[in-house]
Amino acid sequence: MGKNDVPKIVVTPPGPKSAKLMKLAEKWVPKAVYTITPIFVAESEGAIVKDVDENEYIDFAMGIACLNVGHRNPEVMKAIKEQVEKYHHLCFHVTPYEPYVRLAEKLSTIAPGNFEKKTVLVNSGAEAVENAVKVARRYTGKPTIITFEYAFHGRTRVAMSLTGSVQPYKYGFGPQDPAIHRTPSAYCYRCSFGLEYPACNMRCVEYIRDTLNIHLSPDEVAAMIIEPIQGEGGFIVPPKEFLQGLRKICNENNILLIADEVQSGMGRTGKMFAVEHYNVVPDIIPLAKSLGGGLPLAAAIGRRDVMDSVHLGGLGGTFGGNPVSCVAGLKTVELVQQLLGNTEKLGKLLMSRLKEMYKKYEIIGDVRGIGLMTAVELVKDRKTKEPAKKERNQILAECHKKGLIIIGAGAYKNVIRFLPPLNISENLLNKGLDIFENAIKTI
Ligand SMILES: Cc1ncc(COP(=O)(O)O)c(C=O)c1O
Repeated sequence: MGKNDVPKIVVTPPGPKSAKLMKLAEKWVPKAVYTITPIFVAESEGAIVKDVDENEYIDFAMGIACLNVGHRNPEVMKAIKEQVEKYHHLCFHVTPYEPYVRLAEKLSTIAPGNFEKKTVLVNSGAEAVENAVKVARRYTGKPTIITFEYAFHGRTRVAMSLTGSVQPYKYGFGPQDPAIHRTPSAYCYRCSFGLEYPACNMRCVEYIRDTLNIHLSPDEVAAMIIEPIQGEGGFIVPPKEFLQGLRKICNENNILLIADEVQSGMGRTGKMFAVEHYNVVPDIIPLAKSLGGGLPLAAAIGRRDVMDSVHLGGLGGTFGGNPVSCVAGLKTVELVQQLLGNTEKLGKLLMSRLKEMYKKYEIIGDVRGIGLMTAVELVKDRKTKEPAKKERNQILAECHKKGLIIIGAGAYKNVIRFLPPLNISENLLNKGLDIFENAIKTI
């Protein structure tokens, strides 16, 4: 392993077939294309994955939050099958088709904000972010984007420049986008100012005001981009006043607010968009991951005047809003809307079990989240908060061995995130949590 490689979670492949395929992957796929587990999948359904050696797993990763309605959701599969019987690629720029327009209509209608919106469809979360930034720069005529510590916005140039951690996302890939300004986030468990909420009086918000007076000119700032719950950064849930404070500063300075809902959106928190928990209305929302029900699909939804500020031909792409992805997206949105109540209920169950574990196991330093976007942060010592990185990886490896697919997060590599599907049964959720709790006991 090179000096700058991310430490790998060491797990032996679960059987000879996975081991053989892992060897092939090592030979043919660049090592940079990291695999968290060496489990090669044969089949999947609902919240269950079966590997090529016939082992079964409960899935709490769901392709990193891309399957909120479960693996191979029957209604999504039906919509896909019906669509491929008609046409499967045309390119919206050449011969447009109805599913694109219907999905744009649906997303523009359900997104927060009592004003007209429009939606451009693309292929990935990073692409949605790139488009949001393009639009913000074009609309305002200003270059700078304010981003936050611990952010993750993707791996393309602007998206990686907006991302917080240099390792592994940015290292050696420079030059980065030059007009990016980073400011502290509201990571209350590890406050950048060493303060405690609520006595802090939201210093992180006031700091941005100072920044706009001293280090940046509002005349040069197009937008602020924030994940309502920072995902890869460690499921960091800011206090309400944080997002509300950002909205206020944006309003006062003619700056757009971009809420990156790529991971927190699509019902994951029990509301369609996580910003709804904060009563904050963004100007642009990049959305992806679960939007396509497992197919590549992403969107940038925004205020109509903002989206329409871009010149003809300025947005788009060959595959953006592919018809099969669009019908899968339309069905997924409909299903997620029906699952919001269930998500809230399961979220409470998940939170109460993790809080119970917090009482029993010193290694759990913090439990946080909303709905089914919940995580634990592991520490060697609750006082010093020294990140328990090695132990985190041991727990993940033990879970993988015992039949639970679960993944980490966090800039300090010490967070474990829980991303079960929104329609998982209570029984399976509890079973997965039992495996997790037993894994903690082995540490
Ligand atoms: C908040 C957020 N934005 C953007 C992205 C990038 O999405 P993609 O991997 O589809 O490019 C991610 C992916 O994890 C994300 O969590």
